Amino acid sequence: MSSLVNKQILVGITGGIAAYKTIELIRLLSKAGADVQVVLTDGAKAFVTEMTLQAVSGHPVRSSLLDPAAELGMGHIELAKWADLIVIAPASADFMARYAQGMANDLLTTLCLATDAPVALAPAMNQAMWQHPATQANLTTLISRGVHMIGPAAGAQACGDVGPGRMEEPQDIYAAIDTLLSPVAQDLAGQHWVITAGPTMEAIDPVRYISNHSSGKMGYALAAAAQARGARVTLISGPTQLAAPQGVQRVDIKSAEDMLSACRTAMLEQADVFIGAAAVADFRMKDVASQKMKKSGDSNEMQLTLVKNPDVIATLSQEQAAKCMVGFAAETQDVIAYAQSKLERKGLDLIIANDVSRTDIGFNNDENQVTVLSKDQQWTPPKESKAALAVELVGLITQYQTQPS
Ligand code: C5P
Repeated sequence: MSSLVNKQILVGITGGIAAYKTIELIRLLSKAGADVQVVLTDGAKAFVTEMTLQAVSGHPVRSSLLDPAAELGMGHIELAKWADLIVIAPASADFMARYAQGMANDLLTTLCLATDAPVALAPAMNQAMWQHPATQANLTTLISRGVHMIGPAAGAQACGDVGPGRMEEPQDIYAAIDTLLSPVAQDLAGQHWVITAGPTMEAIDPVRYISNHSSGKMGYALAAAAQARGARVTLISGPTQLAAPQGVQRVDIKSAEDMLSACRTAMLEQADVFIGAAAVADFRMKDVASQKMKKSGDSNEMQLTLVKNPDVIATLSQEQAAKCMVGFAAETQDVIAYAQSKLERKGLDLIIANDVSRTDIGFNNDENQVTVLSKDQQWTPPKESKAALAVELVGLITQYQTQPS
């Protein structure tokens, strides 16, 4: 049975083009058995109508704080107490700023201040607005106060820009809400999980680098899923656009060598599980140029001398292995066979293989499908969002750890 049956969810909508997608989110929540009430800010009214939202939620829609008629029905404090969860989708930069400041100058911010229920935001805004230091500072404040963040995703934006700030899709927001409201057993309490994520960045000179398209989403989702079950998680992350999941200790690194040294430090105290979800660059510059490299003469060619990076996971499994070592194998052909040989070569207990030749999953996608291999077993969970898959993978790793060997 869904964790949403009979849950009372207050959906707040702020001004942004993504507001039209929230209609689908409300439909999904209602279909799963939740009782949904909707609150609009003034800005939201330019994008969605009260009539539509009333029809999908089955309740009158509230927008004004000073509405004597509405207050006669359910007063705003009662509404704040009614909610098992408040989810704001889309959450605009303006809303985040007002909420971070503790303002109560409209119904939605007032409800957020007055509630004891968890609050989740699905931000949506232009990429420059999202990346602005003011928005990032508000984000940090909100996360430190326990507000849950769902996204944002990166990609093409309604304004024509490309970058972080797209609202997550309704199904993904729905899945995140489902997870938030599901009671999670704290069966990993006392365990330490070390997880690598994202790309590495190998300097060529002071302004250029070698890197790859890894978004870090899979590693971050694994960190969140292990933390939710009570594990202490150290997330060693290359440069990404993602916020650290709540309660997870993130260590920021750039190069593969930095990653290895951060892992060694994290694993000084023996780790229970190590997951290498990072896309580590195989090579780095033999010598990083100390000054910006110049186009020299008329030559159309340029030679860079690269040397092999350390294999982080293989080194750790030899020198200071966690009780369970888990790697990833991104392959474009003979996926299972290559993954199996990597499992042996790198001294791993489990390897999570995915086919990166498929455009619908893997690198920079929100969904993934993988096969998990041990020396003699194989599991293939269904294709699903990286967040849902991470929950399943943490379950599989935990089960594997407790199997009699
Ligand atoms: O050899 P390949 O890059 O395909 O192996 C992938 C796995 O090995 C991933 O778990 C990745 O995080 C890890 N890896 C590593 N250090 C490297 C290269 C890969 O830890 N230098």
